[in-house]
Amino acid sequence: MFNKLCIIGVGLIGGSVARSARLQHLARTIVGYGREQDLQNLQTAQQLGVIDEYFLDIADAVANADGVLIATPVSHIESTLALLKPLWSVDTLYTDVGSTKSNVLSAAKNVFGKVPPNFVAAHPIAGAEQSGVLAAVDDLFVNKRLIITPTEHTDIAALRKLQRFWQALGASVSLMDAAHHDSVLAATSHLPHILAFALVDMLGHQDEQSEIFQYAAGGFKDFTRIASSDPTMWTDICAANKSALLPLLGQLQSQLNKIQQLLIDDNYQQLFTTFSYAKHARQRFLNQIETTMSKSHTFQIQPGGKLFGETRVPGDKSMSHRSIMLGSLADGITHVTGFLEAEDALATLQAFRDMGVDIEGPVDGCVTIHGVGKDGLKAPKNELYLGNSGTSMRLLSGLLAGQPFDSVLTGDKSLSGRPMKRVTDPLSQMGAEIKTTEQGTAPLYITGKAGQLQAIDYVMPIASAQVKSCLLLAGMYAQGETRVTEPAPTRDHTERMLTGFSYPVKREASTASISAAGRLTAMDIDVPSDISSAAFFLVGASIAPGSDVTLRHVGINPTRTGVIDILRLMGANIDVLNPREVGGEPVADLRVRYSPLKGIDIPEELVPLAIDEFPVLFVAAACAEGQTRLSGAEELRVKESDRIQVMADGLQILGVDAQPTPDGMIINGSQIGGGVVDSHGDHRIAMSFSIAGLRANAAITVLDCANVNTSFPEFKDLVKNLGLTLVCTEDQ
Ligand code: S3P
Repeated sequence: MFNKLCIIGVGLIGGSVARSARLQHLARTIVGYGREQDLQNLQTAQQLGVIDEYFLDIADAVANADGVLIATPVSHIESTLALLKPLWSVDTLYTDVGSTKSNVLSAAKNVFGKVPPNFVAAHPIAGAEQSGVLAAVDDLFVNKRLIITPTEHTDIAALRKLQRFWQALGASVSLMDAAHHDSVLAATSHLPHILAFALVDMLGHQDEQSEIFQYAAGGFKDFTRIASSDPTMWTDICAANKSALLPLLGQLQSQLNKIQQLLIDDNYQQLFTTFSYAKHARQRFLNQIETTMSKSHTFQIQPGGKLFGETRVPGDKSMSHRSIMLGSLADGITHVTGFLEAEDALATLQAFRDMGVDIEGPVDGCVTIHGVGKDGLKAPKNELYLGNSGTSMRLLSGLLAGQPFDSVLTGDKSLSGRPMKRVTDPLSQMGAEIKTTEQGTAPLYITGKAGQLQAIDYVMPIASAQVKSCLLLAGMYAQGETRVTEPAPTRDHTERMLTGFSYPVKREASTASISAAGRLTAMDIDVPSDISSAAFFLVGASIAPGSDVTLRHVGINPTRTGVIDILRLMGANIDVLNPREVGGEPVADLRVRYSPLKGIDIPEELVPLAIDEFPVLFVAAACAEGQTRLSGAEELRVKESDRIQVMADGLQILGVDAQPTPDGMIINGSQIGGGVVDSHGDHRIAMSFSIAGLRANAAITVLDCANVNTSFPEFKDLVKNLGLTLVCTEDQ
């Protein structure tokens, strides 16, 4: 990538860049530059083989270099750029690794008049408490984030090259403008460092300090680890990012005052709420980091076995989303039990917290929502990040289109590739203003049009419960009666739950209609188990000889039971026991026992009623005798992954004759073999291939399984309890 890479400042970061660039063969020669006082460090760097050569003269150092990386403290960047100015070459890529970015760009402007197009500022979010080249390591940037902060003048080729360079060092690269970078880092890095330094400074000056430190337990050590960092560097960073830090320090002070007051008032209930909110927020952040940093989970499944026993799978995802949405808009307090504590539903919960709704929990599936009323949502301070959840994004787009505030909806890589025009087109017919990318994908920029939406009569071109629900939610804020007609029945949880909340919805044949005349009255919701999660066990027990599983309290809403119908057509032995109605939704226990399956042509009218269950139904088809054919299911191509292609690829790797078609698949049942398959980060694919292990004749490894946490975090434990041998490994 580089012929000669010059590192200015061969310390922990500069040295680690050099070491890993060498390891990855990214530069023919790597040289270092430093000042007289850095001589010893430079000599060490050369002796260690971190750099090939060092120079104390900058002109010699950068002569013929096609890459120059400034790894000095941020306060030295301006003087370094001034030294480089007379030597500047338009053919060289210049970059830095400073922890603050606005000041680095200002430094460049001060020196050059404007930021040169080939100076691309960047910041690797990686480090250690130690400094100097002796602390440099080969893998400092592996699985770490690297933020590039381009300007409008940045040369695209230079930007791409830098991006490739850092990716080759193992970093996950994102782009951001410098001011945004600085405010994000002020909150996530600089403020915690100030806190750690301040706490140790305060405790260190107390009379009884030796005693405090003698008895200091884990909390002190964990919390103050970063107070061992380099004080010069951190003074520099605080000075450089003062403008972002000062308001945050103000907020922190008032938060501490609030906690002080809670203690004075003996308000332990509120203290508990604050702590439990923080605990959940932390978990959410960690999950988010885990997904974005593609810390991969791999499932390894031993072949064979059977499923035996009784279990209750987690709460229904669709209903959990809707319970938060409608509970938030209701007048009064809604108690939810059986709530799905998985990333997708938690993304919706967080979005409503971000819009000012006070939500307690979840604790053991219980959530208490203090409804703010239909017009009580507040403008979120930041974009609403919805992770992997299509339901959150599509339903929220309808709800937010008619609010008196603007909002931005974002999601992870998979969600950002999924089609959103299906909701934004009809919403814009209603007068909504929503900007998507050119491809019709997220981020969605929504301009709130309170009081300006007009009802429409919409015949959906595709059978989608998300589109229907989106339009019904928008219809609650539109003038006139909004009517949505579906080409085939889709899940009707929105209509049922609206009725439960006493909001008028009319349902005639395939049309649902709603208007703005109505209020939601809080209610208690008992969310049944998700039939889409139960489906893995319905198939698992059907294909594995000797299996006998009972799944308790499963939602069997007729718009969701396509999987039972299809499996029964294939010859499965499923008993629906103890059917009952809970909070307006039919529920039952399902007993499923092994039974040899046969291939069928899946009736097209069942497709929307089993839309999420096809990945695991393909596994059932692979175990069936004869041919199974699915058509009319092109929707599967735009789910969390292209479920037709990804399943066909995986099944073929396992030796199954599975031929993808544009709108389905043709599978000839046969022995399932072993192998390594990729779930492409799709939770249902990961779980489906795990279940295939029950009938495989060799071990199956499923890659990229972290997203199982979006719908079914307990999957690994539940399958193990019932008899599948599954080991999950987490690789950094
Ligand atoms: C859902 C509807 C379905 C389904 C998704 C959840 C819902 O999507 O696939 O997992 O909760 O409304 P479509 O409406 O796009 O078919």
